[in-house]
Amino acid sequence: MTTEPVLSIEDLTVTLGTRRGPARAVAGVDWSVGRGETFALVGESGSGKSMSVLAATGLAPRSASITGRVRLLGEDLTAMPADRRRRMRGRHIGFVFQDPMTSLNPVLTVGRQVAEAGEEHLGLSRAQARERAVELLDLVGIPSARQRIDAYPHQFSGGMRQRVVIAMALACEPDLLIADEPTTALDVTTQAQIIELVADLQRRLGTAVVWITHDLGVVAGIADTVAVMYGGRIVEQGQVDDVFASPAHPYTRALLAARPDPAHAGGDLPAIPGAPPSPLDLPAGCAFWPRCPVRGDARCETELPPLTEVGPGHRVRTFYPGRTA
Ligand SMILES: Nc1ncnc2c1ncn2[C@@H]1O[C@H](COP(=O)(O)OP(=O)(O)OP(=O)(O)O)[C@@H](O)[C@H]1O
Ligand SMILES: [Mg+2]
Repeated sequence: MTTEPVLSIEDLTVTLGTRRGPARAVAGVDWSVGRGETFALVGESGSGKSMSVLAATGLAPRSASITGRVRLLGEDLTAMPADRRRRMRGRHIGFVFQDPMTSLNPVLTVGRQVAEAGEEHLGLSRAQARERAVELLDLVGIPSARQRIDAYPHQFSGGMRQRVVIAMALACEPDLLIADEPTTALDVTTQAQIIELVADLQRRLGTAVVWITHDLGVVAGIADTVAVMYGGRIVEQGQVDDVFASPAHPYTRALLAARPDPAHAGGDLPAIPGAPPSPLDLPAGCAFWPRCPVRGDARCETELPPLTEVGPGHRVRTFYPGRTA
């Protein structure tokens, strides 16, 4: 396919100013997601998943210094003025975060909140936007949407609130949906329903989806491509089938080998002995070497391994691709 990706990120680096000095949260990250595609970002807590997406879309904290290039629908987001970037984001990107209450206003009805996005970004009248809100709440599976449109968020369950947030995210007909652990706070049954809902909407609407998760079962179930992050870098990326069938980085191998039951979604990342590196004090070489079961010689500690192509679109950052011991 020659069509332009919906979102592409090139050499993205994010350094955060902290009281203890600069923290390099994201380092030299490249990925892209196309129309109708699902791209999954996985990795341990603190590996830079959320920060890479927030920085790319202009939502990083003020203390962040960001370099690299980000293109949304072919336009360079990094080069445009902040107000134009904000409009691009509102018009083209929907966000769903882990806790639906961070996106919902407790004192506004759910209908008003879904309607507002349509009024603001699609120029609908108030009556049209209300009608559209009923349609969207119906689309995301809120039973008796017309009757419940004037309810407040606290009158909904957690799963229903997350459906409302998805309806809000879809209200401006986004080209891109960013879902950052959208099901982590939900029970397993509701998780599966929300995952199926997004997959179904995506099939119907052709939305590009970036899905951040700790759950390898979800990745296997919904994603086309995956990137595994470690210490702010992508250590392996490619088509999900290739990465899961032949993981080439020792970290990916360890994650997949320790996976309890690939058939069941709802699991957290398996624990791997040792602790992830601090972004305040990253090693000069491979960030994974202190925990790596296959580390070879001194260069792992001192030299950053290059990204090596081990198959079509399948890249890995280790000196020992595929080595098991
Ligand atoms: N506002 C902030 N100020 C300073 N450092 C931050 C801030 N937000 C995140 N960080 C740091 O940036 C690094 C990357 O964090 P990020 O939130 O991207 O991790 P993550 O991969 O999304 O983890 P999780 O799975 O826990 O959500 C971490 O070391 C984190 O402590
Ligand atoms: Mg996160």
